[in-house]
This record gives sequence, C-alpha cells and structure tokens, in this order.
Amino acid sequence: MINVAIDGPVGAGKSTVARECAKRLGIIYVDTGALYRSCALFCIKNNVEISAGNETAISALLNDKLDLSIKIEDGTQHVMVNGEDVSELIRTPEISMAASTVSALPSVRAFLLEMQRSIAAKESVIMDGRDIGTVILPNADIKIFITAKPEIRAKRRYDELVSKGVEVTLGEVLVDVNRRDYNDTHRKEAPLKQAPDAIMIDTSELSFEETVCGVVDLIRDLGKL
Ligand code: DC
Repeated sequence: MINVAIDGPVGAGKSTVARECAKRLGIIYVDTGALYRSCALFCIKNNVEISAGNETAISALLNDKLDLSIKIEDGTQHVMVNGEDVSELIRTPEISMAASTVSALPSVRAFLLEMQRSIAAKESVIMDGRDIGTVILPNADIKIFITAKPEIRAKRRYDELVSKGVEVTLGEVLVDVNRRDYNDTHRKEAPLKQAPDAIMIDTSELSFEETVCGVVDLIRDLGKL
C-alpha cells in the first residue's frame, strides 16, 4: 500500500505526469480536480448560480442530489455524475473557471473530503490536486509539488485545448491561468501551497519523460512497491 500526493498549480503537468507514473508503477491515478469540475458542472446543469454568496444552495444541491463516484477502466479514471460519465464534458474553459470558484467554498471541500480519503485508504494511489499533501493525505508516503513558470503552463494548457478542438488564444489561456492561480492560492479554505515535507519539481526546463522518470524514481526509492 502506498499513497503518493501530487500537488501544484494549473498546467504544471501534474495530471499527465501522475497518470503516466501510475501506469508505469501499476497503481491507480486519481485526478481530484475532476471531482471539483463535476460539482461545478452539476450546479450549472441545475441552474444553481456558482458564487460565494450562494453557498447554502450549492451545498444543499450537492448533498441532496449529487451522486458522484469514480470508476477506473483500463487504468483510466471516469467521473460519474448520477450515472452519467461526464469525464469529457468537464474539460471546457467554462467549467475550469467555475470549478475554481466552487472549490473555494468550504462546504464543497467538506463534501469531497471523505470521498478522496476513502479511495486512498483502499488502494495504492497517486492522487493529484491542490491540497492532497496538506489536507487530504497529510500522512502520504511521499508528497511531490510540481510547478512551472506561468507562461510555460499557459502554453501547455493552450496546446492541450487546441488539440481537443477548443477555440482559444494563448493570451486568453494565460489570463485564465493567472486568474485561477490567484483564486487557488488566495482562498481561505485549503489554499494551494507546498506542504513543508513535499519535494518540489520545477518542470519549466524538463521534458515530460525527464519529469516522469524523476517522479517514478522517487516513488520506487521508497521501497514499498
Ligand atoms: O486540476 P484542475 O484544473 O482539474 O482543477 C480544477 C479546479 O479545482 C482548480 O481551479 C482548483 C480546484 N481543485 C482544488 O481546489 N483542489 C483539488 N484537490 C483539486 C482541484
């Protein structure tokens, strides 16, 4: 049993790196951002406005109506919202922004806390997010904080969106990255920050393969797999 916590800002490459490392190590990858995205999507679908002032209604909606779960198929995570696979629907810029707002609400974080912990308690996982090392899995076997310069993160996000056919400009993505960085690091509840015992990896000058090998080595060196 091993729990690996990976945190970092948007576009640092956490999720692609974490997914590939989990594959090479034969363990499960859990993308917790997808859970916040699913909560945001559910609010939008139910016409519940996403704002700090509307937290009571959001919390009631999630607790009363949302059945959220994840399913792993061939090593890939699928997020299920009331039986519907929303894994693709949650990858739009609109949902990115809405997820950032909804994730600042304490009741939303509380709603998702136990779900994340119970997944990690049952299986060996690499879990990525913003507060995995600081809040969700404070006793993780290893904590890694993956980051990169904002311009580089924006360019990676832009390439990813364009490859999926989303129409955006690099400038728009950079504005979005900076705004989400600000939201994620300045919120009161579980802000994005590096845990004191986390190992920091700046991927600005690293290739994907170099980052993956570095992370896999760190995990293998623990001698638990
Ligand atoms: O990693 P992502 O872009 O899919 O995350 C979407 C939003 O959810 C992001 O703005 C921050 C938030 N989030 C969070 O607050 N805590 C997590 N563990 C994961 C994501």
